[in-house]
Amino acid sequence: MATHLRSDGTLELGGVSLESLTRGEEATPAYVYDVDAIRAEGRELIGAFEDQPHLVAYAVKANSAGPVVRALVEAGCGADVVSGAELMLALAAGVSPDKIVYSGVAKSDAELDLAVGAGPEGIGAVQIESAEEVERVAARARAAGRTCRVSLRVNPGVDADDLDTHAYITTGHDEAKFGVPLESIDAAVDAILARPELRLAGLASHVGSQLTSTDAYLVGARVLFDLAKAVRQKASLAFVDTGGGFGIDYGEGCPARPADFIRATRALQRERGLGDLALYCEPGRSMVAAHGVVLAKVLQRKVSSARRWLMIDAGMNDLMRPALYQALHRVVPLRAISGPTSAWRVVGPVCESSDDFGVHTLPDDPDLSHVALLDAGAYGYSMASRYNGRALPAEVFVSGGRVTGRTDRRPMSEWVEDRLAAGR
Ligand SMILES: Cc1ncc(COP(=O)(O)O)c(C=O)c1O
Repeated sequence: MATHLRSDGTLELGGVSLESLTRGEEATPAYVYDVDAIRAEGRELIGAFEDQPHLVAYAVKANSAGPVVRALVEAGCGADVVSGAELMLALAAGVSPDKIVYSGVAKSDAELDLAVGAGPEGIGAVQIESAEEVERVAARARAAGRTCRVSLRVNPGVDADDLDTHAYITTGHDEAKFGVPLESIDAAVDAILARPELRLAGLASHVGSQLTSTDAYLVGARVLFDLAKAVRQKASLAFVDTGGGFGIDYGEGCPARPADFIRATRALQRERGLGDLALYCEPGRSMVAAHGVVLAKVLQRKVSSARRWLMIDAGMNDLMRPALYQALHRVVPLRAISGPTSAWRVVGPVCESSDDFGVHTLPDDPDLSHVALLDAGAYGYSMASRYNGRALPAEVFVSGGRVTGRTDRRPMSEWVEDRLAAGR
């Protein structure tokens, strides 16, 4: 939790009072991010590589706001992108093309053309996710008259049970659409080596997200490294990429820091005799989650014999993780309020039962005017939608103890005009 309780009982983020950001009708719902803390997160992780060749490819999907991506670029990160738009954004935010890897099971020809055509030599690697994709990438490289660096994203066949995380965010098991299954790796490697337009640069895997122990992370890394040893018999590799997935503490603990995951992975890499290869990783959540909150206004309360509801102006369209993954974000007041507390079920205005942020102990006092939903910096705004005609939330960027940028909520009328204009 990157928020800090001041001695006067008010909550701050990055040195800015959160209460001070709630004034005005359209002030909430709003995401607030501590940009300096995000930059420091990137630097700390990069420090864990010491003199080992490496790339920290920040997973842009977690939070693609310009100030956030630029801060991580300043820290020395590259980018992991999953669409042509994210690729364009990373390039425009100053990521050097050779520090970009592009994952995704279904890339369009136009998206592949962007990757192949970026910079003098294309991007760092197009991550090939199926044997069937090899020829598609080769064809785009041929059309551009270029050589394309690729890596094979391996599906290591790791079960959700081995990883101790939510099944919806595991990606490295047999039923997942992601990555080349182990039994097809040989054929995919041979297919790549047979295409003069392709250069096999590395092997990659990403087994899941919100892994709270280094042991869970190493389950996938172990399979990847064994495979890399075998592939090196016939192809020279430049890197192994163990993906993202470093967990954060949403309130239930995560003793491992991102740097711990890297230290453990480096040790395993050396033990497997692969220390000469560059080590890539693709963290998203762990760079940004703890450094962002959602500010919301309390609109109303409702009490029945069975339940106490606290209705806020942020909904599942603003923060989708609870509805999508049954995730629980802590909900706290912006200032200490004395007096009795109760278990309040915090819900939003969206017309869906899943618009529910869970039960939280909160003051009964009607003075509770605003709350913060903590650890919302990752997979928050980037998943927001306009469902129910709701405006996208505001975003506020804090650096050096002050607000350095903000995007206001759009007026309701904009959505109305947009929908009426459809098909015209
Ligand atoms: C290929 C790939 N890399 C990296 C990530 C980032 O994961 P995280 O945000 O858990 O670090 C994801 C997330 O799903 C992913 O699919």
